[in-house]
Amino acid sequence: MKIAIIGLGYVGLPLACAIDLKTSHEVVGYDYQSKKIDKIRNRQCPIDDFQCSEDLKVSRFIVSDQTEIMTDSDIFIICVPTPVLNDYTPDLTPLKSGVEAILPYIKRGSYVMVESTINPGVCDEIVIPMIEDNIDLKAGIDFDVAHCPERINPGDPYWNVYNIPRNIGSTRPEATTFLADFYRSFISGEINEMPNLKTVEATKIIENTFRDINIAFVNELAKSFDVLNIDLMAVIKGASNKPFAFLPHFPGCGVGGHCIPVDPYYLIERAKQSGFDHKLLKMAREINNSMPEYTIEKLTDALNIVERPIKNTPIALLGLSYKANVGDLRESPAIILKNILHEKQAATFVYDPYFPEYSNVDSLEMALENSYAVVLATDHNLFKEKLTPEFLLKYNIRIVIDGKNCLDKENIIKAGILYKGIGT
Ligand SMILES: NC(=O)c1ccc[n+]([C@@H]2O[C@H](COP(=O)([O-])OP(=O)(O)OC[C@H]3O[C@@H](n4cnc5c(N)ncnc54)[C@H](O)[C@@H]3O)[C@@H](O)[C@H]2O)c1
Repeated sequence: MKIAIIGLGYVGLPLACAIDLKTSHEVVGYDYQSKKIDKIRNRQCPIDDFQCSEDLKVSRFIVSDQTEIMTDSDIFIICVPTPVLNDYTPDLTPLKSGVEAILPYIKRGSYVMVESTINPGVCDEIVIPMIEDNIDLKAGIDFDVAHCPERINPGDPYWNVYNIPRNIGSTRPEATTFLADFYRSFISGEINEMPNLKTVEATKIIENTFRDINIAFVNELAKSFDVLNIDLMAVIKGASNKPFAFLPHFPGCGVGGHCIPVDPYYLIERAKQSGFDHKLLKMAREINNSMPEYTIEKLTDALNIVERPIKNTPIALLGLSYKANVGDLRESPAIILKNILHEKQAATFVYDPYFPEYSNVDSLEMALENSYAVVLATDHNLFKEKLTPEFLLKYNIRIVIDGKNCLDKENIIKAGILYKGIGT
């Protein structure tokens, strides 16, 4: 078969490599970003994913910024972004333009697979009508639409595109089985066949919403236990030795990435259209969105203790990425921290080894050299390893705000440095 991948980012590119390397199908990739296409053609990986970089070097599939590359494809796999607009409502523009791009190439017997994260109803209410309105073919009879949401976790040393179990649903049980077998040909994890499109769409959304709600719970506890003077991290450690029915989640300076802080809004909005108000989900989003502000409050509290204003105080903001050891800025709380520090007119020295172009100093040492306080926004290994009490003392750091609760709290306090974590 000929397989066309639409959107060559964190999801589409590893997938194109996997199908190319593990099967004998012909694979082509389409992305409208010409620069990205040039890089991929030169086998330079445009995303921060070790496995994908290695796979790309030995893969043979061809890519283009022109849709014609998808001519005569049998399966179209859409992996475009599904962000939210400024008012947090779903932005389905990339998905719709992805569907538009494949319209000229869909024929009788085609399979249109959506891997992007979407709310229940998107395939039935948007993707299928867009195709049926433009081509004289019927979904479930002449062609099939399917959904197999990706769960990839960039930077994960174990779970990757080859072994993460997947769910799949489509317009026809026979199509679901056919496509499930196709996925089984390059994925070793379980491929679960689901009854229809809506259930599989909902499955992915609840996975990420589950995480958002649980993080909101511990973030709220962090604020509560702060006034109650209870160390939340010690409490979570205690609760975690219950061998059943407790799943530890950890508080922090905010929730970032393209998935967790975005996907709940897709469900909130779609349920709202049908008259249901997701109070809990909205509250969870609100709590998690408040964490960068709360982190800076911890900094101002600490500065108050030493009677220093935040204005003009030199602060090292460490980390911009939303996640440890990857270079990904999407929805990163560090960006909000940076903006708040800017609004408050702190003298901020920003450093992230993954983003030299967005850092205003060239090294961790340079960030600390002239700083009075540290705000740690990302738990990159470099920061965890280097920010020892001795190192902080060497640079005369007086305050540490540990937005990831990942530093040696006890010994930093012993060294006479004012330490505040999130809930600890
Ligand atoms: N990044 C993750 O960890 C992750 C994990 C699971 C699921 N997802 C979901 O997968 C989807 C894709 O996410 P991603 O992280 O790969 O995004 P990404 O931004 O890394 O990549 C998307 C690519 O699609 C391209 N694109 C956008 N519109 C296009 C169009 N009309 N035609 C051709 N190319 C187009 C963009 O240029 C970009 O290269 C999203 O729905 C996301 O929620 C992401």
